[in-house]
Amino acid sequence: MSGNRTFTMIKPDAVKLNHTGAILAQIIAGGFRIVAMKYTKLSAEKAGEFYAIHKERPFYGELVAFMSSGPIVAAILEKDNAVEDFRTLIGSTDPAKAAEGTVRKLYGTNVGENAVHGSDSDENAKIEGDFFFNAFERF
Ligand code: RTP
Ligand code: MG
Repeated sequence: MSGNRTFTMIKPDAVKLNHTGAILAQIIAGGFRIVAMKYTKLSAEKAGEFYAIHKERPFYGELVAFMSSGPIVAAILEKDNAVEDFRTLIGSTDPAKAAEGTVRKLYGTNVGENAVHGSDSDENAKIEGDFFFNAFERF
């Protein structure tokens, strides 16, 4: 039986610090199946589009600059209860407040540079996955 899907990015800070392998291993050990994955870089325009929901927030400019500052790993993941379970695996937005053993606690730097993205709903998981992947890139 196929499970629910979520979407993730390993953010530029974690890629730069060579945490990609460890984070992918933790995701797979957490029971998530990789449906689609790519190593790519967002332009400022694309990062702005992806995070358009945060346009009015004070950190938007900083977020767009950060997310377009270097390569990322984007992936669609599958697991029962994927969205919620993945957010549990990554921990709170602010690594300082994230639970022990979570991806953000282990690899995040600060509330902005927090190692990974995780979709916040099934609806956004679909929108975000479709932003990066076409039908031929999913397995
Ligand atoms: P994400 O969307 O990346 O999975 O993170 P999230 O749901 O935990 O947090 P969200 O509120 O959606 O914020 C999106 C990203 O914006 C950056 N941020 N910076 N400087 C700040 O106070 C601040 N707050 C949020 C983070 O990179 C956060 O993940
Ligand atoms: Mg979010």
